[in-house]
Amino acid sequence: MSDLPAFLHPFAPPAKTEFIRIVGGEGAEIWDDRGRRYIDGMASLWYMNVGYGRSEMVEAITRQAEELAAYHTFDPFSNPAAEELADRVARLAPIERARVFFTCSGSESVDTAMKLARLAHRLAGRPERTLIISREHGYHGTNFGGTSAQGIPPNREGWGPLVPDVVSVPADDIEATARVFESDGDRVAAVLTEPLQGAGGVYPPREGYLEGLRRLCDRYGAYLILDEVICGFGRLGTWFGAQRYGVVPDMITFAKAVTSGYVPLGGVVVGPRVREPLESTPGFVLRHGYTYSGHPLAAAAGLTALDIIEAESLGRRALDIGARLRDGLEALRADGLVAEVRGDGAVWAVELPADRDAATIRDAALEKGVIFRPLGNALAMCPPLVIGDDQVDRMVDVLAETLGA
Ligand SMILES: Cc1ncc(COP(=O)(O)O)c(C=O)c1O
Repeated sequence: MSDLPAFLHPFAPPAKTEFIRIVGGEGAEIWDDRGRRYIDGMASLWYMNVGYGRSEMVEAITRQAEELAAYHTFDPFSNPAAEELADRVARLAPIERARVFFTCSGSESVDTAMKLARLAHRLAGRPERTLIISREHGYHGTNFGGTSAQGIPPNREGWGPLVPDVVSVPADDIEATARVFESDGDRVAAVLTEPLQGAGGVYPPREGYLEGLRRLCDRYGAYLILDEVICGFGRLGTWFGAQRYGVVPDMITFAKAVTSGYVPLGGVVVGPRVREPLESTPGFVLRHGYTYSGHPLAAAAGLTALDIIEAESLGRRALDIGARLRDGLEALRADGLVAEVRGDGAVWAVELPADRDAATIRDAALEKGVIFRPLGNALAMCPPLVIGDDQVDRMVDVLAETLGA
């Protein structure tokens, strides 16, 4: 076997050795160890809303590290930063009387929500409700729960048997979902969906689709889980995608922009219908959690990231960024350079003509100093919410140059 570097990369060919080594960043730009600068058109992996190099973030994390760098929150312990962030997220979420469970990633948040859905039904006397319905194109992380709920077929392959009782429905077909409820409605624990599907190709929900899911869940007594790992914290112009699309879920999974990735953090907003059976069962102990659930450094980073989003009205800015991007991308479509433009808020994608290869275009754009992300035959864009108009224009110009070449 060849002598490969020790670092085995995620979502990469295992024998690949050449990577772009990122060493610094400021605002909406990052640079590599060869001094090349890039406009980060993807906010890293959809999360860097407040931008790189924020001294407020560094100071908040440092202050917390000096006070208390780490302590767990399993019974009987807690810490003020985690408590404060839970309060804050619960107040921002569109679910009345919600509580917040902390994890360290989106994948853990999804697994937590799937487990809580089944658990709450069981404690409420409905143990037969174990079925989770998810959608094609859905991406819910790579733990076993999220892998089982994946709507991106290659991500499901090769891992042996996945979690049972997780079924997939066509992405935008409310009738198909209704048919699952008609045949198995008394077994459904929850419907799990992103408000806008991100990693599966950037697909906003069809008009009325999410409301349709809410109605089905209500009629059949199932929970609605919105996976807001990308949509949460300003990306769609609102704190949560639920607010953007006017739907009230029973649980919300979040991660990424809650801290803008300065420290890894995720969580689940847990609404009253799920809380109640857990809280009212005598002697019940929630045997679920992660060593770093409620980690004080992550919580301190979260509080400051939310302060910045609020103080700088980054939600409102997301709408301006999105409108500017959309107009630029639509012009490329009018010129025949791209086949389709889709997105919402500050997350967009262009579907390339069938004879173009998204990874090749991504590489060519990298050479010109702009980062896009290939998803199938589409290129995704999800820039930091501190990006300047000139940088947005540069993204579109580089895409045009690359496609025109
Ligand atoms: C909607 C959604 N859910 C879950 C995840 C998984 O998050 P993580 O990679 O932090 O585990 C992602 C990651 O992109 C995501 O977009």
